[in-house]
Amino acid sequence: MSANGNRLPPGPQGLPILGVSLELLRDVLGLLRRVAREYGDVARIPVLKGDRFLLNHPDLIEQLLVIQQTKFNKSTVSKEATQRLLGQGLLISEGDFWRRQRRLAQPAFHRARINEYAATMVELAQAHAREWRSGETRDMAHEMTATTLDIAVRTLFGTTLPGEAEQVGRAMTFLMRYSLGRARSPVTIPASWPTPRNRRANREYEFLDSLVYRIISERQAQGNSVHHTDLLALLMSAMDEDGSQMTPRQLRDETMTLFLAGHETTALTLSWTWYLLSENPAAEARLHQELSGVLGGRAPELADLERLPYLQAVVNEVLRLYPPAYLLARTSITPSNFGGYDFPVGSTILVSQYVMHRDERFYDDPDAFRPQRWLDGLAARLPAGAYFPFGDGPRRCIGQSFALLESALVIATIAQKFQFRLVAGHPVMPEPLVTLRPRHGIRMTLQARR
Ligand code: HEM
Repeated sequence: MSANGNRLPPGPQGLPILGVSLELLRDVLGLLRRVAREYGDVARIPVLKGDRFLLNHPDLIEQLLVIQQTKFNKSTVSKEATQRLLGQGLLISEGDFWRRQRRLAQPAFHRARINEYAATMVELAQAHAREWRSGETRDMAHEMTATTLDIAVRTLFGTTLPGEAEQVGRAMTFLMRYSLGRARSPVTIPASWPTPRNRRANREYEFLDSLVYRIISERQAQGNSVHHTDLLALLMSAMDEDGSQMTPRQLRDETMTLFLAGHETTALTLSWTWYLLSENPAAEARLHQELSGVLGGRAPELADLERLPYLQAVVNEVLRLYPPAYLLARTSITPSNFGGYDFPVGSTILVSQYVMHRDERFYDDPDAFRPQRWLDGLAARLPAGAYFPFGDGPRRCIGQSFALLESALVIATIAQKFQFRLVAGHPVMPEPLVTLRPRHGIRMTLQARR
């Protein structure tokens, strides 16, 4: 940090590194909010592995993600954490390679394509809800993961994986905890050492690899004899201008990426929805009223969604308060400047949806769940960069339409059949891993609706 008289952005002073590193392990969200509150729009977070810089203003967030985006790569920290699982998949690849892959994958995510999955989403939500009984208690985070996992498997591969879907979920959860623990820990044991955790990680990686390769090779063996319309088929047939297609390795990386990025985030959106509705009965009642007015108890269809504005507002508000992607990180590849501070090559810059979405300069009563705030044109009034659950700029989420469609349809299907109440005394705490999860799940009692 050199220009402007060697000024460093403000941050915790004294001998904070160990303390802040520990706080980072213990309470990331608390740390981010505290730093933003105490040190302002550009703040420095000193940790053992080097300073991190947090941008806390919509204009600066827009600078990072859109205007100055060519000066940055995805952060090396998040890449190291996910490389083994995601390879060169869209989430972490860079440069020309990323551009080609995004070009090849984009048509699979056009709205018309995505809309074809609407019926599958409703059907699988109904199938899961059919297993539930009034009066019983379930962990809704677990239920929503199982539901979105089935939807991801069916829309990606056009098939179900009997007996394997749960194992896939467990493997993904373990690997996320494992890799993030390694990225955040001040000392890292080499992955090649045969510790129990390293050995389990290897087993889980191998399980996922062999599963995805098996599905790809079954497809290749079928050739054109069977017509598939799922995402994998679209990726397999995608052709670049020069006639080239994805190799099995690239297909594996993209499939794994869509699998991870696609089901977990949407499961969390849904889990937080049931929690927030149960805590806010007036909002829940208004949602029920809208659903019965428009659907009258029947299953939702794509065409219904435009007549369900409050449902859309609920989804927006859930993504504001509990954004599954709560922190984005970039590493600078050329010098940059934010808010008058110069950042040299190699700086790690952070922006946090969780912090920005709860900033009282932009949201009234920011910690309150008030879906109606989205019904009077708030989205148009907010400056770009104040609300970005799906990121922004060229690296914006490719699955945004898919996720919004799935969330709305699953909520509309399930909320007509059941109402959920948090089990008394059950602690609900966001756990910031790669995504923002409820640490102890969300145990709820189910009540059938008439
Ligand atoms: C509520 C659900 C979701 C949320 C909150 C979410 C959030 C995000 C965010 C914030 C990014 C940008 C990351 C960055 O800039 O560093 C991203 C990227 C991405 N998301 Fe999502 N996502 C969701 C659902 C999905 C779904 C359903 C899919 C696929 C089916 C998906 C696939 C991807 C991919 C492939 C990327 C990387 C895009 C690229 O860099 O070209 N996401 N997502």
